[in-house]
Amino acid sequence: ALIGDLSRLDNLEDQLKRTLSVDNVIVVPGDSDHNPQIKAEMGKASVAYLQSVLQKNNTVAVTGGSTIAAVADAMKPLPEGTDVLFVPARGGIGEKVENQASRIVSEMARRSNSQYRMLYVPDPISDSTYELIIQEPHVIDALAVIKASNIVLHGIGDALRMAERRKSSQKVLDLLKSENAVSEAFGYYFNVDGDIVYKVKTVGLQLEDMDKSKHIITVAGGASKGNAINSYFKQGKSNMLITDQGAAEKILRG
Ligand code: F6P
Repeated sequence: ALIGDLSRLDNLEDQLKRTLSVDNVIVVPGDSDHNPQIKAEMGKASVAYLQSVLQKNNTVAVTGGSTIAAVADAMKPLPEGTDVLFVPARGGIGEKVENQASRIVSEMARRSNSQYRMLYVPDPISDSTYELIIQEPHVIDALAVIKASNIVLHGIGDALRMAERRKSSQKVLDLLKSENAVSEAFGYYFNVDGDIVYKVKTVGLQLEDMDKSKHIITVAGGASKGNAINSYFKQGKSNMLITDQGAAEKILRG
């Protein structure tokens, strides 16, 4: 039975690679919507994969959310001398503290015996504050490090669920509804075709920074995120999707 299960997961991974046009996929058994242990399993798979691609002196930029927090919880000490630096990918985008990238990078660094760096920016940020803050020396320094990151580890969320979790204004909620937003990643909201329909203003990595120089690892699961994952992968860049069976089956059912 176990061999049967494993080959079924292999099969899901192959189908997902084709459906989402992504080079690498890992599917863990189960559905994290119904069982929190499955999110922990995605976390473990993500740490194992991260360790396999990490090189000496790499900088890893990470986003927030409960899935990436589960990656932090699964983090293990890195071989001495690996000298990895964890940084938040972007400034705050409306998450509670435990789900904030800045909290997550400190936890990743603590568990892996590495370094981390914070990015202090107000959240939400007005246009006028934004223009001022990007001239602050500590922000300029931190941004240079973040932009030069080698690896990006990020989550994906359902668009409206994320907007509500962030307590976005009614104006933003209405816009997302009228634009049929489906997914959210990095503070960007996308429609079913993967077009950007709205973006949270903050400093840090912008979508155009996600180029071939970075190894991008996407971690998202649960059947309820199937449509969101599909939408993100229409245009979103990623070298690896780590997901669960619940999301995989939902994506393939369409
Ligand atoms: O807010 C940070 C973030 O990574 C979003 O970009 C993403 O939509 C969300 O968290 C995912 O959260 P969770 O892993 O809790 O579903």
